[in-house]
Formats: sequence, structure tokens, C-alpha cells
Amino acid sequence: MYQAEERHWWYLGMAAITEALILRQIQPKRRLKILDAGCGTGAAMTTYLADYGDVTGVDLYAEAVTLSRKRNASRLARASVLDLPLAPASFDLVTSFDVLYERGVPDEACALREFFRVLLPGGHVLMRLPAYDWLRGQHDERVHTRRRYTKGLLKSLLEGSGFHIVHLSYANTLLFPLAVAKRLGEHFSPLRSERSDLTLDGTNEIFRRILSWEAPFVSRFGLPYGLSVFAVARKNHEYRT
Ligand SMILES: C[S@@+](CC[C@H](N)C(=O)[O-])C[C@H]1O[C@@H](n2cnc3c(N)ncnc32)[C@H](O)[C@@H]1O
Repeated sequence: MYQAEERHWWYLGMAAITEALILRQIQPKRRLKILDAGCGTGAAMTTYLADYGDVTGVDLYAEAVTLSRKRNASRLARASVLDLPLAPASFDLVTSFDVLYERGVPDEACALREFFRVLLPGGHVLMRLPAYDWLRGQHDERVHTRRRYTKGLLKSLLEGSGFHIVHLSYANTLLFPLAVAKRLGEHFSPLRSERSDLTLDGTNEIFRRILSWEAPFVSRFGLPYGLSVFAVARKNHEYRT
């Protein structure tokens, strides 16, 4: 991830979609206090998220924190999203990109309650998760997938944790048929590929453009299916404790 995330089409396209969602659905009026929960190797927090405020990153793994520090991230903690060492009501925005689906998060509702706790009233959570459990592939084994999500599942998990849904959408829709063909091919082929889905090759620029092109549609109307699912939700002012 550390090597791929500044150049790989998937990361660059998802960054374009995420920025569009921040601008259209959250509409920040000032610099925000942002928590990137499960920050990985730190690209999101040190690139585009930093344009919207001061970003704190937490990750369960020491290696992720070390690599984030190498990118000059300063506000970092090694911690679990299940037990955040952070004060209640201290962030305007919690982002969490492809974290709650991992085996490292056995109970995503517990993580969502933690996000709710550390958010200020009126604050937002912005999440991305892999879509559709039937799409599991070899890549999911490598990245420790516990389960994949639908919009409906994400909506009920967020609402069950006290959030008000602002926007839900699938993304990576145009490349969906290619990915389905690849994943089905893996099911029927006895050969296991050692090649990661994050390998850079000659298709990188064209795939980056295709995915980035979805940004206005995901952020405005929402797309009806795709390989990832995005949610923006709010902790309302009149929340109950
Ligand atoms: C697929 S990576 C995504 C990283 C980053 N958010 C991104 O978009 O590039 C998932 C990350 O979740 C972290 N993680 C897994 N379980 C966690 C937990 N319980 N608490 C905090 N981080 C966790 C992993 O260490 C890993 O860095």
C-alpha cells in the first residue's frame, strides 16, 4: 500500500470521489478537526484530507503508524477503532476508508459507537467499504476481509449507532463488469495468482480517469451498484446519549 497509494489508479480515483463527497455533502465552512480512523500508511491524511483541516490518524498496527510518520504525519496514535484513546466530542469529521470490513474489527457496531462518541454534535462520519459479499476474491484473503457490505447493511449499522444518514452511494461502477469477470474467473480457475490487485501496469492512467469520472455522480445522485460503498452520516445536535 505504501508503495502504491500515491500512483495507483484506485487510490487516486477514490481520492477524487472522496473530495467530491466532502465538498458536496459536508460542505466545510472552516478548517475541520478530522480523525482518520484506520489511517493505514498515511496517504489520505497527509494529502487531500489535510486540505480540509488538522488530521489525526490512528491505526492498530505499529508498521502503519511508522509508515504514516515517514510521510510527515504528526498527529498519530497506535490504537484500535474499537477503543479510541480520544476525548468525547472532539472531532468535526471522522473518516474511515476500508477499515471496518477487516478481521481486525470483529464488531463494526462497536467502532461506529466510538466514532459517534468522539464526534462533536453536528459532526460527520465519511466511510468507504468494499461492496457485496458475493464478490469476495483472492485479494480479500490477502487484505483480511471479514465481510463486504451493501448500502442497506451500512445504513442499518449507522442508524443503529445513532447516526442520521446524509448520503449513500456505490462507487467503482463503470469497472464493475470487469471486476466481476475477474472475480468469477478466480472462483473457477484452479490457479492462484500471487499478483496483488495493487500492481501498477499500463492500464493505470485509463482506469484512474474512469474512476475519477464517477466523482460528480457518486457525490450528487449516488450510483446504483459498484465495487465499493460510501456513506456520509451525521451526529445530529439533538442526539441522545
Ligand atoms: C485496507 S487498509 C486501509 C488503510 C487506509 N484507510 C486507506 O484507505 O488506505 C485497513 C487498515 O485498517 C487497519 N485496521 C484494522 N483493524 C483495525 C482496528 N481494529 N483499529 C484500527 N485500525 C485497524 C489496518 O491496520 C490497515 O491499516
